[in-house]
Amino acid sequence: MKRRLGRGLYDIGAQPPVAGRAASDRPETAGPGGPRAAVFCITSGKGGTGKSVLTSNLAVYLASVGTRVLAIDADMGLANLHLLLGIQPSRTIMEVIESGARLSEVSEVGPVGMRLAAGGSGRADMADLHPNRLSRLVAALDDPDGRADIVLVDTGAGIGRATTTFLYALSDILVVVTPDLTSMTDGYAVIKNVARNNPGARLSVVVNRVGSPVEGFEVFGRLEQVSQRYLARSLHYLGHVLDDQRIGASIAARLPILLNQPASPAAACFRGIGRSLLLDIRERQNGRSAGGLGDRGSGCA
Ligand SMILES: Nc1ncnc2c1ncn2[C@@H]1O[C@H](COP(=O)(O)OP(=O)(O)O)[C@@H](O)[C@H]1O
Ligand SMILES: [Mg+2]
Repeated sequence: MKRRLGRGLYDIGAQPPVAGRAASDRPETAGPGGPRAAVFCITSGKGGTGKSVLTSNLAVYLASVGTRVLAIDADMGLANLHLLLGIQPSRTIMEVIESGARLSEVSEVGPVGMRLAAGGSGRADMADLHPNRLSRLVAALDDPDGRADIVLVDTGAGIGRATTTFLYALSDILVVVTPDLTSMTDGYAVIKNVARNNPGARLSVVVNRVGSPVEGFEVFGRLEQVSQRYLARSLHYLGHVLDDQRIGASIAARLPILLNQPASPAAACFRGIGRSLLLDIRERQNGRSAGGLGDRGSGCA
């Protein structure tokens, strides 16, 4: 069945690859006058599930295979993506929201050439931004100046208005859960809200902090079962990340674990998820759409 895939992903398939960039691990790319970027909204029900760790490592992986990546820290009020990437931002997305600056103007180059549009943190008024004020940022996502192939939007947790502005506007929602019952329950609440208020969106799942790949499949299977039964919605499994104490050390070092400890089991997991993401984009470029487990989650031990 052909799904509504969202503007960016329709467009990617509608144009030939940019000249001079041979096919490799990356999808066909956006460029000036060419297709728009694929925009992924990374979210969760409960806080602290690993959204920002995932976003920073995915951004680095995708940049390392030649994709032009723009990460956006949209965790309003609690922005910390710049810390995880070792970037000291001089500008933030608040300029996009407040004065209409372009994302390309406020973004800064980070590890492996990925770019970050940092969030503003520590301002109490940010967490309560009215959705109308966020609409400028959402509009900017629609066309990040033709300089990104993939945009990763790291949102806050839960279903508050600042987060649902993104959840209801974007067409690719990636929900991060852990095996904790509360995280799964809250993750399902996000899935339910998206299914009801943004029915055309594609819902993907990453299971973080698992003890084994089997645990990841099991957690995903439970979410998928409930979604099928009560929402008649299938989910897409992008993979798991092993619980790995080295992630804490890499955060302290202000470097994604992919760069800090590339041989670690968790780093292998992030590469696996990155490959799943690229595979998904390519499948959609080719007009196919895989659902359920497929061959996902096999990227790491
Ligand atoms: N796979 C993992 N293994 C071990 N610790 C992890 C893992 N993923 C995340 N963490 C821990 O969880 C904390 C919260 O992660 P973070 O990405 O900041 O969550 P969120 O952005 O969802 O609030 C991190 O500081 C890190 O210590
Ligand atoms: Mg975060």
